Amino acid sequence: MADYREKARERMAKCQVCPVCNGKACAGQIPGMGGIGSGMSFMNNLTALAAWRVLPRCLHGADSPDPTAGLWGQKLSLPVLAAPIGDVIANVGSDMQTNRYTELLVKGCREAGTVATFGDNTRLEALARNFDKIGDYGAMTIPFFKPWSPPDLVARLDMAAGHGCAACGVDVDAAGFPVFRKASPAYGVRSAGDMARIAEMAHARGLKFIVKGVMAVSDAVIAAESGADALIVSNHGGRSIDCAPGTAEVLPGIAAAVGHRILVMADGGVRTGLDVVRMLALGAKLVLVCRPVAIALHGDEDNGVREYFADLRNQLVNAMRLTGCPDLAAITREVIC
Ligand SMILES: Cc1cc2nc3c(=O)[nH]c(=O)nc-3n(C[C@H](O)[C@H](O)[C@H](O)COP(=O)(O)O)c2cc1C
Repeated sequence: MADYREKARERMAKCQVCPVCNGKACAGQIPGMGGIGSGMSFMNNLTALAAWRVLPRCLHGADSPDPTAGLWGQKLSLPVLAAPIGDVIANVGSDMQTNRYTELLVKGCREAGTVATFGDNTRLEALARNFDKIGDYGAMTIPFFKPWSPPDLVARLDMAAGHGCAACGVDVDAAGFPVFRKASPAYGVRSAGDMARIAEMAHARGLKFIVKGVMAVSDAVIAAESGADALIVSNHGGRSIDCAPGTAEVLPGIAAAVGHRILVMADGGVRTGLDVVRMLALGAKLVLVCRPVAIALHGDEDNGVREYFADLRNQLVNAMRLTGCPDLAAITREVIC
């Protein structure tokens, strides 16, 4: 790990690769890897998770917990997906092109037995170069598009369907990003009617539809009523609006309100197997990790992503063993206090 963190630092001009990726050193650095403004939204993700303690339970006989999960018919080796990053040159200061990043991420996630994702681009040609890197891993690769109007999403949804993707998403919390607001056509906040239309357009192409960037129960209800198949409780890694709560603070309310009718996922500050346990105990069925995966990939192109997920899986298995959880369904609120 130490070796590849050093290498990652050399290759990611806009990331300090801190011992713990917590948003302190990079506060306000956008473009860059930080959270917006004061950086509180990013930091709140970690403090909200850390506020939950994990209750040890060792007298249960479940010595070989099963951390495997499922997503729409696909088996995952762990309940953790790689979260999307848009332009890695602008955001990460990467020495590699974004489509190369996508190629390596897809390869690493395939080897790790989990789902890869990638972000949007204002230029369709650049986005197409990302799609070209999916190869035959479409069923396990999810593109996330910006909140364009329904007509402006047509070409993107067609690309996703044409490349064999099983699902796609829209990160609705990107509505205020200056670079995209200046784009032509511009995008912005979407209405409940827009979301229902987008879900319908995705379904017409055989795609499941995910709403990413939900923090309020009212938005979660709109996402569920739109016909979307999943939502991601996320504050965009603290990059959308300053002074937002940590995702672990709002997750329980959202899971209680809509968890019975839409798949609830969550991201933000997940760094360890114990954090995965915390998110699942708070109501998420799957979680996503972004910055640590980017660091692992830059640190070792060939093995970083696979080894990152293998390590996280081992941590999760040990956490399940020590909290008395033979499988993911057993990770309930009783596990945390
Ligand atoms: C540099 C960077 C770029 C990102 N680009 C996108 C993007 O294009 N689309 C998107 O939905 N989320 C994007 N995100 C947000 C992540 O997908 C994810 O929601 C968040 O970073 C998770 O928090 P974590 O980094 O603490 O794991 C980006 C995050 C970072 C750090």
